[in-house]
Amino acid sequence: MIDWGSLARAIHVLSVVVWIGGVSLVTTALLPALKQKPPEDWIRDFNEIERRFAPQAKVAVLLVLLSGLYMLYAYSLWNRFVDARFWWMHLMVAVWLIFAVLLFIVEPLTIRNTIREQQPNEASRRLLARIIWMHRLLLTLSLIAIFAAVGGSYGLF
Ligand code: HEM
Repeated sequence: MIDWGSLARAIHVLSVVVWIGGVSLVTTALLPALKQKPPEDWIRDFNEIERRFAPQAKVAVLLVLLSGLYMLYAYSLWNRFVDARFWWMHLMVAVWLIFAVLLFIVEPLTIRNTIREQQPNEASRRLLARIIWMHRLLLTLSLIAIFAAVGGSYGLF
């Protein structure tokens, strides 16, 4: 018999690895490498990377939601959200919400066009610096959420 709860957990962790692992590579290696390039090059490369990574991240974000909701249902964990001891559950959902809004709403509606139509000038250098800082912040929050979620799931807190 298949243990569907364990299957959901495996899918949850696998999706988190693909998604946050990708964010980590982009934040710590690809974006800093783009900083060394002239604006017309980084704008082109950024669009190429985004075109490939955004669809993967969207699938992973949806799988994290579905598998997370299934675990809440299968293990009857809903009441954790009214208990402050399970702050790490709130953190997980908060990180999910921030990324979902950015990926599914803000990015397609505003960021994508801003970068595609960006003129190679001083303002575009500042834009890249802002993008890098935003990624660092999101990566830090995500890593704390992963540490806290594994710790919380296995009795560290
Ligand atoms: C709506 C979004 C989410 C829901 C509903 C959700 C739900 C859950 C649930 C119910 C568990 C099992 C807790 C337990 O066994 O005590 C879990 C575990 C976990 N979640 Fe989430 N989660 C969500 C988003 C996230 C995000 C965004 C991350 C990563 C940043 C994440 C990372 C993890 C990790 C690493 C575990 C521990 C898995 C293990 O080692 O067993 N989750 N999540």
